[in-house]
Amino acid sequence: MDDKQLVGLSAARKIQDGMTVGLGTGSTANCFIEALAQRCRSENLRVTAVASSPISAIQASALGLPLVSLEQLSKLDVYVDGADEVAPDLTLLKGRGQDLVREKILARAAGQFWVLADRSKLVTRVGEKFPTPIEVWPFAWQLVQSQLKAEGIDSKLRIKESGVALTSAGTFVLDAQFPPFWEAAAINRFLNDLPGVVEHGIFLNLASLVLIATDGQVEERRRSNDA
Ligand code: 5RP
Repeated sequence: MDDKQLVGLSAARKIQDGMTVGLGTGSTANCFIEALAQRCRSENLRVTAVASSPISAIQASALGLPLVSLEQLSKLDVYVDGADEVAPDLTLLKGRGQDLVREKILARAAGQFWVLADRSKLVTRVGEKFPTPIEVWPFAWQLVQSQLKAEGIDSKLRIKESGVALTSAGTFVLDAQFPPFWEAAAINRFLNDLPGVVEHGIFLNLASLVLIATDGQVEERRRSNDA
C-alpha cells in the first residue's frame, strides 16, 4: 500500500455510520473513495455521499456508494479531499484539477474538512511550488488577467491539448504567480473582491484536520482553533 492509499484508508476508517460525506477530486481523494466503498461493502457501513466533481461522482457510483446531488443537500458531516500544497497553519492550495467551485462549497459547508496529503504536499507558504488557480468567467478572463497584471501578478490561461481548459462549472482557469511577499490572507481577500473571479485555490481557515502520510506512517495535524 502506498502513502496515498494509506492516508485514504485512515480517513475512511474515521467515517461513522449514517454520515453524509463529501467526496473530493484527485488521485488521493480517489483512494479515500475506494477505501470508503470497501468499508461500506465489508462492514455494512451506511453513508450518503456527495461528489465534488463529475469524475468523483462516476467513481463513487461505479463503486456502489449512494450519491445525492449538491442541490439536495442542506448540510454534510465531513468533506474529504486532497490538496496541492499544505502550509504550516493548514492553509491549502488546491485546484490543479479543476473543480474548485464545488470543492470550496463543500469544504465550507461541512461540519469538518479533512485533508489528505503526503509529505510532498508540505510547504512553508502556499504558492511555493505551484501557481494559484483562479476560475474566471470565460468572458472576463482577459480583464481579470489585466487586473492581476496591474498588481504585478503574472498569470497564464490554462490550456489543455484539446484547447482552453474548461472546468465542470463552465469557467476558464488562470494560473497566477503571486510574488512571495503576498500572504495567503491578502491573496484570498484580493481575489474574493475581484469581479469576474468565480473561485480560487486558496483555502484559508477551512481545513479542520490534515492527515499526512510519510513512509507508511500517518500524522494528524489539527487547526489550532479546532483542537
Ligand atoms: C483538485 C485538487 C486535488 O485535491 C489536488 O490537485 C490534489 O490532487 P492529488 O491527490 O491527485 O495529488 O485540488 O482540484
